[in-house]
Amino acid sequence: MSFETRELAPSIGTEVRIDRADLLSGKYAGEIRALLKQRAVLVFPDAPVNDDEQVAFSKTLGNFALEDGYDEKGSETYRISLDPNESQRASSLKSSFRWHLDGTTADVPTYASIISAKRVAAVGGQTEFCNTYAAYEALPDADKALIEDLHAHHSGYAMILGTWLEMPYEQYRNVRSRGADLPLVWRHRDGRKSLVVGSSAEYVLGMTPQEGLGLLFRLTEWATQRRFVYRHEWSEGDIVIWDNTGTLHRALPYAADSGRLLVKTRLAGEETFLGRDVEPEMA
Ligand SMILES: [Fe+2]
Repeated sequence: MSFETRELAPSIGTEVRIDRADLLSGKYAGEIRALLKQRAVLVFPDAPVNDDEQVAFSKTLGNFALEDGYDEKGSETYRISLDPNESQRASSLKSSFRWHLDGTTADVPTYASIISAKRVAAVGGQTEFCNTYAAYEALPDADKALIEDLHAHHSGYAMILGTWLEMPYEQYRNVRSRGADLPLVWRHRDGRKSLVVGSSAEYVLGMTPQEGLGLLFRLTEWATQRRFVYRHEWSEGDIVIWDNTGTLHRALPYAADSGRLLVKTRLAGEETFLGRDVEPEMA
């Protein structure tokens, strides 16, 4: 089997059929990185891996990084599960049911994430991705002009707001400590532009809360139209990679006792939200 591809949705997502040994060895790392830039989400069906294999494979694609603030017995992988026995972050994971990109409050956002599916939910639990380059490009000119120089404040608070009926004060203090003002339009180092919106955006600088939230909701709704979205139906053994700098993603709701278990690794960011290069040793 050579490197066989099939497009999954018009503006995002390509399935790659490749010999498992070739995939894990890094033989096609250059092709995978190039395709990821074009298609934002890559799906490798029937590629079961253990944690060591996933870490080694991830390292062939870029600058490997641990999940921020996550330390589960020294593991280099991050377990995604709503079951508290499986994941130390199970309680806050419902925030991933809203559209977002990872690392909006970090100095440098994640470049790409790699997920392998261990167990899937019988109902729900699909992951959706939208292409924020395509969404920006298709915006009416008036909206491009409106948002050209606008910035939004992103916070951990905004991200998890919807997951609590009443947020404990200690939790609020913790998530309030993480925040950043980011441009609505990401001017990438290669000259392309994408939208920076999603659930971590709390307000727009220089606008009233009513105006700013209205704009943020409207832009997120625009970016997540069906024509910009790929929905992945997980099967055990799938590997999915996505470019976090040109997409939003979310999980569709699933039950905490569904058994769903995904294992994630990530690649450190290579550019800031201002399109500045990051040196690998700094990442
Ligand atoms: Fe995420």
